[in-house]
Amino acid sequence: MPLPGVTSVIGDLRDAAVVANALRGVDAVCHQAAMVGLGVDFADAPNYAGTNDLGTAVLLAEMAQAHIRRLVLAGSMVVYGEGRYDCAAHGTVPAPPRRVADLDEGRFEPRCPSCGAELTPGPVTEDAPVDPRNVYAATKLHQEHLASAWARACGAVAVSLRYHNVYGPGLPRDTPYAGVAALFRSALARGEAPRVFEDGGQRRDFVHVTDVASANAAALASLADREPGSFRAYNVGSGEIRTVGDLASALAAACGGPAPVVTGEYRLGDVRHITADSRRLRAELGWRPRVSFADGMAEFASAASAEDYARN
Ligand SMILES: NC(=O)c1ccc[n+]([C@@H]2O[C@H](COP(=O)([O-])OP(=O)(O)OC[C@H]3O[C@@H](n4cnc5c(N)ncnc54)[C@H](O)[C@@H]3O)[C@@H](O)[C@H]2O)c1
Ligand SMILES: [Zn+2]
Repeated sequence: MPLPGVTSVIGDLRDAAVVANALRGVDAVCHQAAMVGLGVDFADAPNYAGTNDLGTAVLLAEMAQAHIRRLVLAGSMVVYGEGRYDCAAHGTVPAPPRRVADLDEGRFEPRCPSCGAELTPGPVTEDAPVDPRNVYAATKLHQEHLASAWARACGAVAVSLRYHNVYGPGLPRDTPYAGVAALFRSALARGEAPRVFEDGGQRRDFVHVTDVASANAAALASLADREPGSFRAYNVGSGEIRTVGDLASALAAACGGPAPVVTGEYRLGDVRHITADSRRLRAELGWRPRVSFADGMAEFASAASAEDYARN
């Protein structure tokens, strides 16, 4: 959507000439473009790597050429894989990928690698080990590594904002790459019940797009004061933990649609629980999320989609 006083340049990030042109007169970049979602199958891998890895490399190379030394990257919580887990006997433990046999039998909770007990989920901090579990996640981590290498090589500064599940006006409609909030809302718009995978108990942090925008603004404003050559990551979550089942119920109620159906289906690349600890962003940048889950979902139920914006 064109904004007053803003020049739009539409083009492919992988095209160096287009990027060089778009960078004229710019002193900082908020890099949001990516191929997103879990994808349809592994044949998508070259497109993910092309857009996210090569696209970011082209952008950074052109920024280096143009002596632009400030970057905010749209990172993602997917870099953590499964979130943080504790075992009653063994403390904080890495959750191994869930076994197909467990998932087939409806055992969805990750288990302790030492004793096999079901684990208790908790919020991840930025120093949690990274563990990307699918192609998209691998490319989101690689984008951070490229940004960090660029910062060191060019005496530049980069911040990655690891968004949790973003929702709000402008979310795309139903596509195989869309997030769960978009999929549920599209089903309800067709008069269908949202279909909830696993048992609906997957814990997530749904953060409103305006809070993500204010995190970008806060990160941009902080770049001038950072040490040249530095890279820093921040979680961006609302701090309100909800399940995928809660999301489906909230949207069904707000749309006056049919109640959700829990299907027990699963996708191998999905993680069970992933929730944010956004204290670093609050403490260092003074950021505060403003939109509650209840208010945000009530608004989202009837908000314009990305396709609506594109038409107007
Ligand atoms: N939506 C979420 O919940 C979420 C969570 C974590 C991180 N993110 C990150 O936030 C950013 C924005 O995601 P989104 O959810 O708005 O997705 P989106 O698909 O709505 O937006 C991505 C945009 O990138 C553009 N794009 C894709 N390939 C391009 C290319 N080769 N050249 C130029 N533009 C290209 C698309 O046209 C689209 O406008 C992405 O970097 C994504 O990884 C999103
Ligand atoms: Zn244990």
